[in-house]
Amino acid sequence: MKKNIHTIRGMNDCLPESTELWQKIETTIKKVLSSYCYNEIRMPIVERTPLFKRAIGEMTDIVEKEMYSFKDHNGDNLTLRPEGTAGCVRAGIKHGLLYKQEQRLWYNGPMFRHERPQRGRYRQFHQFGAEAFGHYGPDIDAELIMITARCWRDLGISKNLKLELNSIGSLESRLNYQKALIKFLVKHENLLDEDCLRRMYRSPMRVLDTKNVDIQLLLNDAPDIKNYLDHDSYIHFSGLIDILKISGIQYKINFRLVRGLDYYNRTVFEWITEDLGSQRAICAGGRYDNLVEQLGGYATPAVGFSVGLERLVLLIQTINPDFSIKPKVDIYFIVLNNNEQIKAMLIAEHIRDAFPNARLMTNYSGGSLKKQFSRANKNSAHIAIVLRETEERTQKVIIKNLVTGDQEIIPIRHIISKLKMYLD
Ligand code: HAM
Repeated sequence: MKKNIHTIRGMNDCLPESTELWQKIETTIKKVLSSYCYNEIRMPIVERTPLFKRAIGEMTDIVEKEMYSFKDHNGDNLTLRPEGTAGCVRAGIKHGLLYKQEQRLWYNGPMFRHERPQRGRYRQFHQFGAEAFGHYGPDIDAELIMITARCWRDLGISKNLKLELNSIGSLESRLNYQKALIKFLVKHENLLDEDCLRRMYRSPMRVLDTKNVDIQLLLNDAPDIKNYLDHDSYIHFSGLIDILKISGIQYKINFRLVRGLDYYNRTVFEWITEDLGSQRAICAGGRYDNLVEQLGGYATPAVGFSVGLERLVLLIQTINPDFSIKPKVDIYFIVLNNNEQIKAMLIAEHIRDAFPNARLMTNYSGGSLKKQFSRANKNSAHIAIVLRETEERTQKVIIKNLVTGDQEIIPIRHIISKLKMYLD
């Protein structure tokens, strides 16, 4: 029976003490995206399995071993989305949003990957993603990076994040590079670990991602992707670098950054932190100019990013361990006489009409004056209003500033104008 109240490994409850921080982060990102004219799109959490296989790639870790896939009652092969880009592209094609149009879209929601859970890595996690369609030039790549940089600035975490970027070129230039890389890896086969050997032929560029320090050293002598870039990708990347330089966004070019999803071409980037141990990427993205066509739409250039919200929350909490945004109560309504509960609730409604942004909690289930004040304090209320029998007869209430201790008795009809002064 006890087992029933446990969450599934790697899937966590998010309790009120941290939802305030989640909301702050989400509101900040939404505001920034809105200021760049990105509009929200909502896609289903479940999609057909082939969508992810085709978009992310059969040989990727995600598709090979991390997807939550199942057959539904109709026998259809379905998967809990492991990321948002594939579904966003599918929805864009289905609803004709992408053909000969520019689109700037964002989404936010849970994603699912059956990874080994650890701090910052979960089986259900949340991504805030943005995708821009219909733009060829590097200016939109730069805009997406500027958006992320602005989010970090507004969240006060710019100092804790570093931008790494790379160009992985066109599909053709990448194939040439992969040939050269495989040649190099074969020569040093005896020094590779099992994971790298497995990747060597199936997805050779993923070897560059290895966490094995000895192999990382070996890779210092591996062919460099920058020497294999096609001319157009080189020009695109130079254009992006120029914009970043002018806009003062610090970056590091990491020629080993290749990303673990197959749909990318040209620009790829990650925002990395040193404050979260091994789960360093807070945000990742890049260009995927072939994906729309690959999924059945008309050729449409595209670029986007996703932010891992759990990692962002952890980062903010790590930087500032005392960080807590306690849900505040502006007004606590104390009701001494049970018979007056309905009257108090109606006055409270009237106050909410006048102050839609205020948070007002009405006392329920009675209690002595002391008990009700103690509930108000427990909720860190700013103001208490006391509706007392005697005051009611004379149509008066006590209004008390719980921070300063000042209080006064006022006629009920003045409650709104008085509260205006208190809340200001
Ligand atoms: P991704 O690198 O797979 O890219 O994931 C993006 C971000 O999601 C990561 O940087 C990380 O912060 C977070 N994340 C990924 N897996 C987990 C996990 N198991 N637990 C917690 N957080 C996680 C994508 O998903 C692409 N769709 C990004 C993109 C959008 N590219 C273009 N547009």
